[in-house]
Amino acid sequence: MNSASPRRLGVNIDHVATLRQARRSPYPDPVIAASVAELSGADQITCHIRGDRRHIQDADLPRLRDSVQTLLNIEMAATEEMIGIALDVFHPDRCGGRRHRITLVPERPGEVTTEGGLDVVSHQDLIASTALQLANEGIHVSLFIDPEDEQVRASSLPGIDMIELNTSRYAEGEATDLERLRSAALLAEELGLELAAGHGLTHHNLPALVRHIPEIVEYNIGHSIIGRAVFVGLDTAVRDLLAIIRR
Ligand code: PXP
Repeated sequence: MNSASPRRLGVNIDHVATLRQARRSPYPDPVIAASVAELSGADQITCHIRGDRRHIQDADLPRLRDSVQTLLNIEMAATEEMIGIALDVFHPDRCGGRRHRITLVPERPGEVTTEGGLDVVSHQDLIASTALQLANEGIHVSLFIDPEDEQVRASSLPGIDMIELNTSRYAEGEATDLERLRSAALLAEELGLELAAGHGLTHHNLPALVRHIPEIVEYNIGHSIIGRAVFVGLDTAVRDLLAIIRR
């Protein structure tokens, strides 16, 4: 990492939409949450459009694209339906010259949350062709993978700018995972892949990660920010995390 460049915080606003969908009400609006997060200093906004549309809805995506002032990072599965949505929402004619990002993630129907990283080793052809299709339309592409060296190596493909390491096992307290993350991070740097991390991160477990793995330049965090925002407000919840990652 260039020591002059600060690390970035991507605020995932899915769970504002979860609360909205619980009542099918028009509020709380994830687009407003995105604006508040940006005003509080967030470097980008992340959301996940799921096959079952349990939180983010199709209609949220063009609204987010038009209102987000930083970068919009949409997580999705590499299905035909989702790629069609990505190409439509991020069509160059609708992005005003700005490049946004798609992060490809695995998705299992019925899962409570994303359960692991993409298996790029086993599905390299599909992932490579999907990434190229998106990159050819000017979209940045990232892959969400587990911190395993073979997955990092397999992710070094044309059209892929960066990878996001799955931190869920680290967040669950698995002691050996910090070393796996560190090894994957060093390999990503060697391969010239920009490095993000996310899943299950909180203001409790983030400081050690930031200290031990300076190669991570971006963190995508959602559930703990929105959960904490219920008590301290979104502005404070975002600023507290920014203070940790920019230390
Ligand atoms: N990164 C990815 C790829 C994810 O799928 C998610 C969850 O949608 C996150 C980060 C954020 O995880 P959390 O909500 O646990 O902070």
